[in-house]
Amino acid sequence: MLKGLIFDLDGVLTDTARYHLSAWNNLAKELGISLNQDQLDSLRGISRMDSLELILKYGGQENKYSEAEKEKFAAEKNAKFVEQVETITPKDILPGIPQLLKDAKAQNLKMVIASASKNAPKILNRLGIMDEFDGIVDPATLHHGKPDPEIYEKAQELTGFKADEVISFEDAKAGVESIKAAGQFAVGIGDKELLKEADYIVPSTADLKLSEIEKVFEKKQG
Ligand code: G6P
Ligand code: MG
Repeated sequence: MLKGLIFDLDGVLTDTARYHLSAWNNLAKELGISLNQDQLDSLRGISRMDSLELILKYGGQENKYSEAEKEKFAAEKNAKFVEQVETITPKDILPGIPQLLKDAKAQNLKMVIASASKNAPKILNRLGIMDEFDGIVDPATLHHGKPDPEIYEKAQELTGFKADEVISFEDAKAGVESIKAAGQFAVGIGDKELLKEADYIVPSTADLKLSEIEKVFEKKQG
């Protein structure tokens, strides 16, 4: 039986994913690295330092900078991202999400956030939906980033339920892989091909309907 929902944040509850990608793209350009769309997409859901390492790898610069320089680049990118975050209002909650949260509340489902972002509390506060959630995984406690299952396992622990009692929502390929590695039901939001490992895929959050997702979920549980 469905008892809880676990949400990624960037690209699922709000469109901050595009702020992350544009801030990374700017930094990459400053470093003389030009990223193609697939490379940019591969950064979705990836932690701050892992994203930087990937960009340097794409540019063939993996051994070029000291740890201190890399910390400085990451801080620079974060400052740009936070500037964008300061402009967020409750209007930036993605379509379909308010209804989904309402339907979940009506069913008394527990809701937890599984975001790798250290900015998650700030973003949730700006969106005005912090109080809707029963917990947030603290990314500082993680040893491995998505696609490792750790973050979704921790989120599930926060719900207090079993893997087959929760549904998890993601827009990133690495995120869907993380959910599946944790043994949970994955809802993918975005490209069908990219997110093909998910149990249920919709092109956009506007297409999310809890009752429809639950039908497929119940069927899978047999
Ligand atoms: C999320 C986003 C990633 C971002 C990561 C770390 O997973 O999808 O794009 O790199 O969080 O975010 P932070 O705000 O801590 O740099
Ligand atoms: Mg995301």
